[in-house]
Order: sequence, then C-alpha cells, then structure tokens
Amino acid sequence: MKILILNGPNLNLLGKREPEIYGSKTFEEYYQQLVKKYVDIELHYFQSNVEGEIINKLHEVGFEFEGVILNAGAYTHTSVAIGDAIKGITTPVIEVHISNVHSREEFRQVSYIAPVAKGVIAGFGLQSYELALQSFI
Ligand code: DQA
Repeated sequence: MKILILNGPNLNLLGKREPEIYGSKTFEEYYQQLVKKYVDIELHYFQSNVEGEIINKLHEVGFEFEGVILNAGAYTHTSVAIGDAIKGITTPVIEVHISNVHSREEFRQVSYIAPVAKGVIAGFGLQSYELALQSFI
C-alpha cells in the first residue's frame, strides 16, 4: 500500500515554529518513527512551500497511490486550485491538521479541501497523521 504524506507551507519549520501550538518535534523525526512502526506500508513524504508543487505532487501520485495524507497548512483556507486538484484525481485524500483549526481564528474554519476530502482529522498534534494512516490501513 502506497501512502503519501504531503505537507504544505511552513510545515518544514515544525519543531521551531510556534511550539506552543505545533509542538517541539521536527516532522522528519516524527516521520522516521512512522516509517519504523508501519514497515508494511510504502510511505512517502513530500513538503513544499509552493502551491503549484503541491498540486504537481497530487497529480503525480493521484492515480496510483492508495492514499494521500494532506496538511496543506494555510493553503487549506485559500486554495481553490488544491481543492480542484483533489477533485481531479482518483486517490482519496485525508485532510489533517496538527492544531484544532476550529478552536482558532475564524479564517481557519474555512477549508477548500474538506468538501473534496475523504475525511478530516484535526487537533491531535502530530498524531493526526497516524490516525489518518490507520484509517487508510
Ligand atoms: C495547520 C493549521 C493551519 O491553519 C496553519 O496555517 C498551518 C498548520 C495545522 O496543522 O494545524 O500552517 O494546518
């Protein structure tokens, strides 16, 4: 089973960025733990701060992989183009967030991804990614 974890803008700063909201672990550390724990899953990881690169990656895997776990960061709340890309592919996408976006600013409660996602997981810290992975399994 091929699963892609796709992280959007500013998520490369995890560990340093607003640790009171996003924690103090880097994503690479967390990802290595997942790889070790889920040896039977072919996990892939890609991060970009560039909207078009996220879309290109969705097109690249979106007819082949069994699932995409997408944290589009702030693009979640702005990107019609990422929403359209998800509509255009056949691979199911789960939207994840580290923080509980619904308990934060109002603009974070809008998502262009949720209406076209298989489901949404938010607010469980980095564990949100593992919950999404388990749901694909
Ligand atoms: C985030 C929530 C977004 O609102 C924010 O812009 C992020 C991270 C999260 O994982 O909690 O960059 O997607």
